[in-house]
Amino acid sequence: MISDFTFYLPVKILFGAGKFDMAGEEAANLGKKAFIVTGRRSAERSGLLARLTELLKRNNIEWAHFNGVAPNPTNIIVDTGAELARKEKCDFVIGLGGGSVIDTAKSIALSAKSTLPIWRHVAFWESDYVVPEDALPIMAIETLAGTGSESDNIAVLTNEKTGEKPGYTSPLLFPKVSIVDPELTVQVPAGMTAITGFDILCHTFEGYVSKISNPVSSVLNLKAIELVKEYLPAAVRDGKNMEARTNLAFANILAGFSLTHCRATLLHAMEHPVSGHFNVTHAEGLAALMPEWLKFSWAGNVEAFKAVGRIFGLPEDKNTAGSLIQRIKEFLKGIGLDVTLSGLGVNRDGFEEMAEESLRYMGGGVSNNPVIATKEQIVGLLNRSM
Ligand SMILES: [Fe+2]
Repeated sequence: MISDFTFYLPVKILFGAGKFDMAGEEAANLGKKAFIVTGRRSAERSGLLARLTELLKRNNIEWAHFNGVAPNPTNIIVDTGAELARKEKCDFVIGLGGGSVIDTAKSIALSAKSTLPIWRHVAFWESDYVVPEDALPIMAIETLAGTGSESDNIAVLTNEKTGEKPGYTSPLLFPKVSIVDPELTVQVPAGMTAITGFDILCHTFEGYVSKISNPVSSVLNLKAIELVKEYLPAAVRDGKNMEARTNLAFANILAGFSLTHCRATLLHAMEHPVSGHFNVTHAEGLAALMPEWLKFSWAGNVEAFKAVGRIFGLPEDKNTAGSLIQRIKEFLKGIGLDVTLSGLGVNRDGFEEMAEESLRYMGGGVSNNPVIATKEQIVGLLNRSM
């Protein structure tokens, strides 16, 4: 029996090798002056920025460039960018880069229009939170398959002062157009491919077992998990393997669909405070926490976890939480991500506070999890992941 569902995804996605060349024509439908958002140097070094501005020029589109995005982008970076976008009178935003760049571009699109500091639109748990009402149109050009940001209505920002790192949502955060050209991901180094690819696995795995999964997301998530399991090790081994790159880029789009509808679960809810407070990449945090999360959550959705176990090659009589954890650890080892929280330099001092943060600004993830965790249980999971 198919259960009732709503599925809404208003993003025009251009997928395939060479689709980057369509950026100028597509941009012409969005506005007359683009605010191009990139990381510090990579878009310049790779020549993609020059290619993009040439495509814009051919379509009589002006631009201003903001290259202030760093990993784990902050509210201050967004505010700085939004001020410049207003000053330059840009009427749409292009994010050219990985998830951090696209999330920053999305947030700048909101803040440039509302003129408020972005945190007012992010911190939904604070009394001065303001629901955003409008945003500049957004184009996302993905150069790194990882966050699903090109096909979802979410952005993740870190508060520079407090270390809070929520994901926040708004229908205004859907890009109008996303260009997913797997050729752009060929230059991504092996280590970065591994961490971003593992994030795709988590988004789709968590979406699949989530309490709010739906019949469409379940089909898509199962396929995406299969693709990451098969192609991530190949892409890490050989970055020029276009079959692997293309399948990962596709899986990442499916992950964005999943995040839009199923959100994340406790795994992401526990991880955000970790990379918010420590110098840890998001996917390293996820990798360290996954075994304990899986063990804790298995009983809440046994059938879904077993389906993932089958993808990881477990026969029916050995399809248990313990065996799947073992298989995932082997998988992580194969891509160089076999880590623990203590190995990543995380210390126990802040666990109480971090568990509170999980419940405060990642509470949606906690409540979507197959088994709901209390604060004490989250502290226990963090401790056992050391
Ligand atoms: Fe993630």
